[in-house]
Amino acid sequence: MPMRTPPTRTRLQPRNAPPYAGPVHLAARATADGTPNALAVARAELRARGVDVLDLTDSNPTRHGLTHPGVLEAVRRATSRAGRYAPDPRGPVVAREALAARFGGGPDDYFLTASTSEAYGWLLTLLADPGETVAIPAPGYPLVEPLARLAAVRTTEYPLHYVHPYGWSTDTTALARVAARDEVRGVVVVNPGNPTGAYVADDERAPLVEAARAGGAALVSDEVFGPFHLDGRPRTLAGEERVPTFALDGLSKLLCAPQLKLGWVRVSGPHDEAAAAVAALETIADTYLSVGAPVALALPDLLALADDAVAATRERLVGNLATARALLDDGGWRVRRCEGGWTVLVDAPRWRPDDELALHLLREAHLSVHPGWFYDLPTPGALALSLLPEPAAFAEGCRRLRAAVDALGA
Ligand SMILES: Cc1ncc(COP(=O)(O)O)c(C=O)c1O
Repeated sequence: MPMRTPPTRTRLQPRNAPPYAGPVHLAARATADGTPNALAVARAELRARGVDVLDLTDSNPTRHGLTHPGVLEAVRRATSRAGRYAPDPRGPVVAREALAARFGGGPDDYFLTASTSEAYGWLLTLLADPGETVAIPAPGYPLVEPLARLAAVRTTEYPLHYVHPYGWSTDTTALARVAARDEVRGVVVVNPGNPTGAYVADDERAPLVEAARAGGAALVSDEVFGPFHLDGRPRTLAGEERVPTFALDGLSKLLCAPQLKLGWVRVSGPHDEAAAAVAALETIADTYLSVGAPVALALPDLLALADDAVAATRERLVGNLATARALLDDGGWRVRRCEGGWTVLVDAPRWRPDDELALHLLREAHLSVHPGWFYDLPTPGALALSLLPEPAAFAEGCRRLRAAVDALGA
């Protein structure tokens, strides 16, 4: 069985159903993700045997005690105001006013969505016709590819490079070449990146904007990890005026509350182009009207919790990053520079392919880590660890990782 299968967010859960082969045609783009990879299979085997696996891949914040305790109460309070259906394709104005007050711009620059993923879906529909292309960073979190496939849109990659200990940089020359291609309609920037943790640097911003502008491509800036700066200064592309720009964010990271299902897009850019984009986006939003009224009406109260929520999550991330540095940054081990986000990249000193290494760790140490290839990291031996787990579990995971890998060379 091939190790690598098209990545999806459920890629660690193997599906038991055989590929569909009935008389009714199902679209290839909807059924492309069938085969579980070897890690998923091994994990299911361990689960079936009742083996406890220490999971350093998990970035579901609700499993790590991080969801702000006030969020459900805020939604409960708003629910009593949600009895009458008064749809607004952009989302209720009170919610958009609260976004503008916190993040800048005006209420009419914002569109509410059910999640950042849905926002990507809408933007893929907005920017690219079937068969056209959006550019995505590599390495990167495997989210846009499956969303693009569902929208019948192609992806092409532009490279990010790592130099230790300086950090990551965007290959803006390669990006300009990619953006100049006729069929490329959007450039996705993840700021800070997942799993790179790198914000768009000050000196990258102008070439990035120019590459998109010259190529006639819009910018899509995914800023869900923006507030979680660690070893770096936060920077945003939201509100960029030189090129049509769509900045994405949402409650799944800001309040550690993915279950609330609320995200948003902020639109900016040259006046006429932004106005045209807003009008078309309004049609898409109006077609779905997917945002639930209770959570949307609760947004002003929810945003009032954001500073506390971010502070608590950052404390967890900062603590775990320090633990990784204390346990995994000597003797050939290396913790890569992590400016922000929820993931840290670690280079193991045994030059085994990272997929083999991750499988070995799972089987022998009952430790789950993401191999770098999940994210198209070119270096063998690179592993991605979630910084969200409880501190004791994270430290135990780092110790287990080190012991298991060091034993390989003994
Ligand atoms: C960079 C990035 N953007 C977006 C998402 C998805 O966010 P949402 O839950 O709002 O769809 C993820 C999920 O982990 C992510 O890593």
